[in-house]
Amino acid sequence: MAEHYQVSGSTSAAISASVESGIRAGALAPGDPLPAVRALAGQLGVSPATVAKAYQELRQRGLVVTAGRHGTRVRPRPPVATRRTALAPPPRPGTRDLSAGHPDQRLLPPLGPHLAALAAEIGTPTGYADAAVLPDLVAVARERFAADGVPAGELTVTGGALDGIERLLAAHLRPGDAVAVEDPGWANLLDLIAALGLRTVGVPVDDEGPSVAGVRAALTAGVRALVVTSRAQNPTGAAVSAERAAALRTLLAGRADLLLIEDDHAAELARVPLHPLAGATPAWAFVRSVSKPYGPDLRLAVLAGDEATVARVAGRARVGAGWVSTVLQRLVLSLWRDPATAELVRRAADGYDRRRDGLVSALAAHGLAAHGRTGINVWVPVPDETVAVTALRDAGWSVAPGGLYRIAAAPAVRLTVSPLDEADLPALADALARATHPTRGGAPY
Ligand SMILES: Cc1ncc(COP(=O)(O)O)c(C=O)c1O
Repeated sequence: MAEHYQVSGSTSAAISASVESGIRAGALAPGDPLPAVRALAGQLGVSPATVAKAYQELRQRGLVVTAGRHGTRVRPRPPVATRRTALAPPPRPGTRDLSAGHPDQRLLPPLGPHLAALAAEIGTPTGYADAAVLPDLVAVARERFAADGVPAGELTVTGGALDGIERLLAAHLRPGDAVAVEDPGWANLLDLIAALGLRTVGVPVDDEGPSVAGVRAALTAGVRALVVTSRAQNPTGAAVSAERAAALRTLLAGRADLLLIEDDHAAELARVPLHPLAGATPAWAFVRSVSKPYGPDLRLAVLAGDEATVARVAGRARVGAGWVSTVLQRLVLSLWRDPATAELVRRAADGYDRRRDGLVSALAAHGLAAHGRTGINVWVPVPDETVAVTALRDAGWSVAPGGLYRIAAAPAVRLTVSPLDEADLPALADALARATHPTRGGAPY
């Protein structure tokens, strides 16, 4: 595609802005090569040093990657708002879209009654002087953490899990530092790490969480932070088991050079027990979002950690965004305290479990070993992602290519079960089996 996009500019800043705008518009797609430095310098009538400087700046910002003689290419997930079309095939009109990774809108608790109750009791508007993390929210969050074995002496609130992770990484790491992440892992996290000028080191993940050997290798490679998804790992559905947690705690014990971050984004929706690593290292944080059980638009997560880590996150927020709106905090508190909402969340969790387990079983009946222990996604290994995504689209299903989530992991596709009903599962499993083995037995399958 790169040959169709003419990079322009006579200064390094203008050249890098032109490449960035090509990426944003989707004219330079992930993986597309940029012109060779000398060739582009010749075309634009500038010195090779000017083009090299533009490429260097794009590299530092995580937009492009240079791989020796393979030249410079657009990163698989450049940290600018690219059109979705540049990242994944667009859902064909009329197909069922299982590619999004969003919670099921039908299962989110209604906010109306809680907003009405808040409106009745809100009282004097909160100003700069009295805005803070609400003590009542802290108390309830602490109880909930304690019930799950997370030591939550120090606690603050962020604008969601990803905001918390960004603040943690920014507070502890410097550009160029390496972060160990699950491979496959959450695409937004990989984008965030690149946007912060950090590097990723992939750690293989199985159904019980990140592998011990993978974490050991990442430590040897000098990573300064490790991000572990506690449950409902995106995209594989892995959940850290008791045995894996014990082994990882032993491996990480006392590592003063590492920031340990746990992301419990599924929280109450994950129906497996939590086995936290919290406290294994001197610097740690445990982030729990309300997005999946209660709604992504609440933009709130609670973050527990050691005293210095929480103080850094809260202190930095104070000189920036300030605080998470007390209106949102009160709304979350109201949802947490409401037994009827707790029942809705339990039913939602059942609904996800049934669809996810049902899909994994239906695939097993076709001889396909899919992953999906917890959460809202199923990860299906395939021999060729493009073939599988295209065949499924032709059969009426849009799914996400695994390339969005993988570093070195094997090809797969990710399916989000939220839009599905149980009645859909046999047809979907059949379509997946055909897409995965289009010519099994030498005949159309
Ligand atoms: C692993 C993981 N963490 C966090 C989130 C979202 O968290 P938040 O909305 O609180 O930023 C997601 C959403 O899909 C996720 O998959």
